[in-house]
Amino acid sequence: MISVNCSPEVDGEKLGKILKEIKHDKMGGWMELPRKIDMGEFVRIKEAAAKIKEESEYLVCIGIGGSYLGHKALIEALRPESETKIIYAGNSLSRRELEVALKEVGDHDFSVNVISKSGTTLEPAIAFNEFKKKLIEKYGEEGAFARIYATTDAKEGALHDEAVANKYTRFVVPDDIGGRYSVLTAVGLLPLAVAGVDVDKLLEGAAEAVGTAIEPASKYAFMRYELGQKGYDTEVFASFEPATMYFNEWLKQLFGESEGKGKQGIFPAAVIYSTDLHSLGQFMQDGRRNLFETIIDYPTDEQNQKVVKAVRVAHTEGGIPVLDIKVSDYDEKGFGELIYFFELSCAISAKLFGVNPFDQPGVEAYKNELKKLMAEG
Ligand code: PA5
Repeated sequence: MISVNCSPEVDGEKLGKILKEIKHDKMGGWMELPRKIDMGEFVRIKEAAAKIKEESEYLVCIGIGGSYLGHKALIEALRPESETKIIYAGNSLSRRELEVALKEVGDHDFSVNVISKSGTTLEPAIAFNEFKKKLIEKYGEEGAFARIYATTDAKEGALHDEAVANKYTRFVVPDDIGGRYSVLTAVGLLPLAVAGVDVDKLLEGAAEAVGTAIEPASKYAFMRYELGQKGYDTEVFASFEPATMYFNEWLKQLFGESEGKGKQGIFPAAVIYSTDLHSLGQFMQDGRRNLFETIIDYPTDEQNQKVVKAVRVAHTEGGIPVLDIKVSDYDEKGFGELIYFFELSCAISAKLFGVNPFDQPGVEAYKNELKKLMAEG
């Protein structure tokens, strides 16, 4: 169960209208998803995961943005056990990083999960080509294609067409769910199942949140908006669990891409305490007062809990509005709830700012410019 400590004025009529708009948006499919899982697809995901685990020491997950952050966040946070190691590629254009990933796989048996909704994003496309070459060298074309799992659009895109032509095992990113809201689809579920995360429990947590998250999510969203209107233009997510660093990264993408448009939105930043108290602590305590802090209060040991309390008091005294999001369980169920809570909060919040939570015209602009430069050679 998620709870928040703030009590802004929530305009019930406005909230009702927003929730209706989100639900009926053509990209609002994530809202009911945890309760409407396609069981046929879910069984196929689990079967594919079992096959990968049986025949591969490594699963290379290739994707960027919403196509990798969510599952990486959960794997890092939950530290599940599996004999198949998950590694990541295609989330930058660094040749150095790619070489490191290729070297790590070395002569080990491996499979590839290439994830791209559009099927045209440059970073994963380049990494995929390299790993496909490596697969073909090791297993021959037929053997290689049997080890490629493509998660992409149901009907179109370069990756879709290639997957159909080469008969890769295919999973779908539903039409009505965008990248950063897709972690509970095959995008996240396949790598998570291979990594040993209990995906049933994850979905169970998210399904419970479908009803229960509305109240805390709307309070949090209205509070953010209120603070935004008062000139607090930066939100710092603070966690006291180092393993949740990538969950913070997922949050930054979710809020940044959903809200930052039309010259609107709150800039999302993140810290891990107590580590960052020794780097950013000074600024948080006494720097420019344009930011508020959102503590994600995971269940933790007594000593760490004391740091949470100390930060709350010190930063409030330092003039920072401090919000608290209390998470009751540090496990699959708890993270399932938390994901749904933040997705809902973010969509409501973007609507309050009057922007579309589900597009990313700025990201497309960069992708188009890069394509032009690459074409120039
Ligand atoms: O949230 C989003 O839509 C984006 O971050 C995308 O996930 C990211 O740009 C990758 O796109 P694609 O999955 O089409 O390769």
